[in-house]
Amino acid sequence: MHRLALAAAAFLVAGTTAGAAADYPSKTITVMVPHAAGGPTDTVARLVTESMTRTLGQQLVVENQGGAGGTLGTGRASRADPDGYTLLLHHVALASSASLYRKLPFDPATSFVGVGLITDVPMTIVGKADLKPDNIGELLDYIRANKDQVTYAHAGVGSASHLCGMLFQDAIDVQMTTVSYKGTGPAMTDLLGGQVEVMCDQTTNTVGHIKSGKIKSYAATTKSRLSVLPDLPTLDESGLKGFEVTIWHGLFAPKGTPGDIVDKLAAALQTALKDPRVVERFAQLGIEPVSPERATPAVLDQHLQSEIAKWKPVIQEAGIYAD
Ligand code: MLT
Repeated sequence: MHRLALAAAAFLVAGTTAGAAADYPSKTITVMVPHAAGGPTDTVARLVTESMTRTLGQQLVVENQGGAGGTLGTGRASRADPDGYTLLLHHVALASSASLYRKLPFDPATSFVGVGLITDVPMTIVGKADLKPDNIGELLDYIRANKDQVTYAHAGVGSASHLCGMLFQDAIDVQMTTVSYKGTGPAMTDLLGGQVEVMCDQTTNTVGHIKSGKIKSYAATTKSRLSVLPDLPTLDESGLKGFEVTIWHGLFAPKGTPGDIVDKLAAALQTALKDPRVVERFAQLGIEPVSPERATPAVLDQHLQSEIAKWKPVIQEAGIYAD
């Protein structure tokens, strides 16, 4: 191809890419949440997208697709056009799926580009209201005595609730009977109804029910006690030394989404993380928003790769796989 034509073609491509964000967004943006409505991921997504809608002037609509620990919805988002009109709001399960699943409809390491980190969410060990144990010591004795007679709820292999359960059972060297849901929204419904006994879930989903007495709380999964639940002991102080699990959430776009569109979305996300309505609601739910400096594409890209590497030996050690 003649050099002049090449230069013109290059200019055109560059011009198109550079112009990609000029009139973006010009229509509704779908944000895929790969867990059922009503769970902690969904709650974070709706709070953040409401604020981003105000900033971007176009509706961000949450679409839920639960199942298989979040891999079904994630696969769908990975196949969307990289035009900025389909995003994925996900969490640590994107990283853990790289080691847990033998075959996936996406590549956790390369199918997405990061828009920005959003939160760091503590977890709590909770039980149905009429579960006999009244504190973490009694709960550990109960689980050690009853083993697979005890039912543990999670949102599918690789989900945050599954990962916490895997580490918790490993730490006490007991395997309970696990019950899988399309998200911990529906799992919480069964815990409230007494159909399942124990769960490790994010404060987003548990703090309200704990405070209203509808479920029992036993411990937090953080190193220090939670300001939102100051009387709740940590697993670390209850004999499971060093136990620590918190759940980061991030906003992603399919690989190939133009960089200036990603940057426009990142700026709107950073505004959301400073939005008083978001900050206030996050605080009530025990959610730590990341600092705006961490809500960037580069930080999330780097964080995802380091999380994929971090969970690999943990999962191999646990010997858990999903097909
Ligand atoms: C999980 O991974 O446990 C999910 O966060 C559950 C959910 O958001 O429904």
